[in-house]
Amino acid sequence: MVYIQRRETFSASHRLYNTTWSDAENEAVFGKCSNYYGHGHNFQLIVTVKGEVNPDTGFVINLVDLKTIMMEEVIQHVDHRNLNVDVPFLQGMLPSTENLAIAFWQRLAPAIALNGAELHCIRLIETENNFVEYYGV
Ligand code: NI
Repeated sequence: MVYIQRRETFSASHRLYNTTWSDAENEAVFGKCSNYYGHGHNFQLIVTVKGEVNPDTGFVINLVDLKTIMMEEVIQHVDHRNLNVDVPFLQGMLPSTENLAIAFWQRLAPAIALNGAELHCIRLIETENNFVEYYGV
């Protein structure tokens, strides 16, 4: 079993705000991350795919195909967007890094499976110091 990774980057804004709470409660929990007009990040999305090496190609998955999947399923939808309002598949979701990782998994896993490989992990880096990993469960 070999694990192969690819990174893509995107820039996006978001606001951490629970619509069922008062402004004061949001301020208490999220602080400046709940500021009305949001804030931005240069995100890095690192996808790990696992599988056996194909003896004909030497690949677990063709990285050109993985790039295409990442771009079509995630990056083109979120790059230079406001994640609270612009992205149909994120509607109704509080766009924390955790929730973004889960949402991205749900789009990437089926597309990678169609390509004959298996999604192992999503690592979403929000800042130099804050990042999330999700393994599908
Ligand atoms: Ni943020």
